[in-house]
Amino acid sequence: MKKLIIISIFSLSLLRASQLTAEAKLTETLKAGKEIAQNICSGCHGVSGKAGSGGNSGAVPNIYAQQRDYLTLKLKNYKSGKLQHPQMTMIAQMISDTDIDNVAEWYSRIKVKVFDPDIELSEPGPY
Ligand code: HEC
Repeated sequence: MKKLIIISIFSLSLLRASQLTAEAKLTETLKAGKEIAQNICSGCHGVSGKAGSGGNSGAVPNIYAQQRDYLTLKLKNYKSGKLQHPQMTMIAQMISDTDIDNVAEWYSRIKVKVFDPDIELSEPGPY
């Protein structure tokens, strides 16, 4: 029993160490972007960009693997008021232009696989 506990603690610390290594590999931009995603966006878009049940649920778009420039443009348009949406305009106005660049980098770097229902083949998406 004691042995089992020691093994579990050992493997837990290995798991933690690999998480820390993965975290250390993120660039500063991605780290900052992930922080914004976790603190501000995740309630509706998830940290991975897959819309959860927060906000208006079905009305929240998935934003993972989207082109960085597209995300930046949308966020800047919400911020300037060119695009009006009760939640997104307010949220974009809360964050700086650097935050926008960082969070756009974060969501654009998340990868997904595309499944085409017609040809039943899975192809990696066009990243
Ligand atoms: C309270 C829920 C909520 C939060 C929090 C939120 N969003 Fe949104 N977001 C939405 C909704 C709803 C839409 C759809 C808006 C529309 O229809 O114009 C949206 C739209 C967007 C779009 C446009 C997507 C497209 O293809 O048109 C982007 C980009 C986006 N959000 C990024 C973010 C980022 C980045 C954050 C964090 C800084 C964030 N959102 C936080 C609810 C939210």
